[in-house]
Amino acid sequence: MAESMKGLKRTHRCGELSAKNAGETVTVMGWVQKQRNKGGIIFVDLRDRSGILQIIFEESDCGAENFAKAEKLRSEFVVAVVGRVEKRAGAVNENLATGQIEIRANQVRVLSEAQTPPFPIEEDSKTKEELRLKYRYLDLRRPDLQKKLILRSKITATIRSFLSEEGFLEIETPILNKSTPEGARDYLVPSRVHPGCFYALPQSPQIFKQLLMCSGYDRYFQVAKCFRDEDLRADRQPEFTQVDLEMSFVDVEDVIDATERMVAAACREAIGLEVALPLPRMTWVEAMDRFGSDKPDLRFGMELKDVSETVKGCGFGVFTGALEAGGSVRGINVKGQAEMPRKKIDALVEFAKGYGAKGLAYLSVMPDGSYKSSFAKFFSEEELQRLVEKMEGEPGDLLLFAADRVKIVWSVLGALRVELAKQLGLIDNSRFCFLWVTEFPQFEWSEEEERYVAMHHPFTMPMEEDLGMLLTDPGKVRAKAYDIVLNGVELGGGSVRIFQSDIQEQMFEILGFTKERAHEQFGFLLDAFQYGVPPHAGLAIGLDRFVMLLTGAESIREVIAFPKVKDASCLMSEAPGTVEPKQLEELGLLLAGQKE
Ligand code: AMO
Ligand code: AMP
Repeated sequence: MAESMKGLKRTHRCGELSAKNAGETVTVMGWVQKQRNKGGIIFVDLRDRSGILQIIFEESDCGAENFAKAEKLRSEFVVAVVGRVEKRAGAVNENLATGQIEIRANQVRVLSEAQTPPFPIEEDSKTKEELRLKYRYLDLRRPDLQKKLILRSKITATIRSFLSEEGFLEIETPILNKSTPEGARDYLVPSRVHPGCFYALPQSPQIFKQLLMCSGYDRYFQVAKCFRDEDLRADRQPEFTQVDLEMSFVDVEDVIDATERMVAAACREAIGLEVALPLPRMTWVEAMDRFGSDKPDLRFGMELKDVSETVKGCGFGVFTGALEAGGSVRGINVKGQAEMPRKKIDALVEFAKGYGAKGLAYLSVMPDGSYKSSFAKFFSEEELQRLVEKMEGEPGDLLLFAADRVKIVWSVLGALRVELAKQLGLIDNSRFCFLWVTEFPQFEWSEEEERYVAMHHPFTMPMEEDLGMLLTDPGKVRAKAYDIVLNGVELGGGSVRIFQSDIQEQMFEILGFTKERAHEQFGFLLDAFQYGVPPHAGLAIGLDRFVMLLTGAESIREVIAFPKVKDASCLMSEAPGTVEPKQLEELGLLLAGQKE
């Protein structure tokens, strides 16, 4: 039977009490973590979001009626307890923040009873994630998740106050939109009033924030929900949150400066981490050449080496064939792994194939100086020596090579480098390695669509010195685009924007938009540029990813209160769901296969 809390008012959260409160009478409210009945004395661990507190019931303190209620308490009952804070006489619990004290209860009220939960509510749950997500409201009671969401709130608050103090205005932009081109598939919402028409949920507030610059708001930010219908991964959700910002009368340096100070402030407030500024920087070409990735994890070495020159005269067709086709041969040196079992190497080859490799060539420099290799027979002793030297190989090292188009070689070795570092335990999880990657290519050739696509988005300004190549050699044009990377994860990205309508029109042309389509889709932006537009630039940080990395979470699902799973459904609410035929009718929609 549920009792009322009438006449009671919570005085403290459980975790806020300490030996300093000894002697005070307090009222605490929360969930029963555990009840232990030792005969004449009952111990109850009471939990709320701040921590766990031990309550003691003895009939001599609380009377028969309260004692009887305490006897009936079960896990997850919600109770209010009035009692006196006492220093623990005997067993101090070092594991509890409140381990020095206990509450000697003189009153308890059962505010609500609870069924036995489908899994225990405890710090490190062993329960399968599917079950926990089905009962997410219970999972969210676990201290582990509570700490993460509390930290998320703290990070957001720090960012908000930092940006406000820097003169940024928080302005909301619409959720029901026309399509924004960030490169993913849109989520569409059918319009009832305009049959056959659809809103698109924003993939980002990109166009609106640029319009706000046109409107003179000069520094904007938003903690913005974004929606992208793309394949989910550990660091991707269909709806996620960006800390989105835009600034007027600025260039690359200004955005980088504001962003890194914001990120450093968040790290300091959230986890007491002092981030040294300015953050290191690397051009995109350097990042790809050294790490095979535009988001390199700098917590370990194992850099890529280009051995194309060294192997070009060798007799190994795999290498020379790739070079003749305009490709490249590159390798990584896996220190001390010369004796990696064949089976493990084979598994690496399979892994590499997943990234488009046709194979993976290996050379073990054995501890006695001899070589074991899949291709040594095609090399002279001298050629092998030169190759090993180029790779800075020493006895005991395993050298792995990929030969292909450079894009594939980068992606294969870049992925292999990270995989091996994980397998071999080379990553120091206590480190936070930030990096700016700058001078991204403006365009990327899409094999699928047989055309150039924007590497960042179509509003990104090319580097001034490359403008001349825009129409003649677009593949070579570098962009005023930058990404901020943390521990191998793309934390955020942005660019200086095009604010000249002629360059913007050229951009659309290269990207294969007809004039008509460009005007249909972005006409209002192009029009806005006709009425006085300041030079502007901006960036967006993926807030979920940032919180994931700062809390050491494995996936962004752990830092989102109600996340979706791989197939973009919610296991708790079972969204998405079907709708009433009447709703479809109102929207003028007919499902495929359905009769009118
Ligand atoms: P971009 O597309 O790079 O840039 O997105 C910025 C950041 O948002 C995060 N992010 C995601 N997080 C979780 N799940 C997803 N599906 C997801 N997609 C992106 C990443 C990414 O770095 N409008 C531009 C920014 C700008 O130019 O100002 C934009 O959206 O951390
Ligand atoms: P093959 O001639 O295909 O039998 O390959 C000989 C060796 O070279 C095997 O160890 C393959 O895994 C490796 N190999 C094949 N293609 C490539 C490639 N593109 N890059 C690096 N190694 C390769």
